[in-house]
Amino acid sequence: MAFNKTGLENDVGYVLLSETQIRQRVQELDMQITRDYEGKNPLLVCVLKGAVNFYSDLCRNIADYMEMDFIAISSYGNEMKHSGIVRLIKDIDKSITGRHVIIVEDIMDSGLTLNYMTNLLKTRNPASLKTVCLLDKPERRECAITPDYVGFVIPDEFVVGYGLDYAGTYRNLPYIGVLKPEVYTDAE
Ligand code: PRP
Repeated sequence: MAFNKTGLENDVGYVLLSETQIRQRVQELDMQITRDYEGKNPLLVCVLKGAVNFYSDLCRNIADYMEMDFIAISSYGNEMKHSGIVRLIKDIDKSITGRHVIIVEDIMDSGLTLNYMTNLLKTRNPASLKTVCLLDKPERRECAITPDYVGFVIPDEFVVGYGLDYAGTYRNLPYIGVLKPEVYTDAE
């Protein structure tokens, strides 16, 4: 179903990645992950909340045994700048010792969230630990970390939709769009 030009959509300056582009890239990532993890029954860990749409689409197309788990992280700071302080809100439920684990993120910006999570999960001795990010903004990186699988490398724009939010809204847009600057500058 096509979205109407609601107030929600009028806040978007332009579409950066369409539903079709996202769907095709997720299918490619699925083929790669299915091939790389054949016979390994990986545990895919969704980082709440931004990754939910990506995670759901990714998991449903993995054509092999796999399991799901969820983690929630809170990072202090505002929408523009990461404070560098990260806190665990909800841990995964399963033991990962000896398991092949893949962390699924929507976006990597400073890299501080993913850095925190990989350091945390590594202490539990997984057989392997990799990361898949739908979006990578390398210009914003503040620590030496690179995702193992990347959907799209994007410029340093304020993106929303397909799970990504601004102040809690826009996650339900079916595509990834760039927010009009007046939306977040007027709100400051
Ligand atoms: C976003 C995103 C990543 C993190 C990336 O989460 O989902 O987890 O920021 O930023 P970083 O690379 O600078 O650490 P956010 O804290 O906005 O929470 P959300 O997933 O609930 O939207």
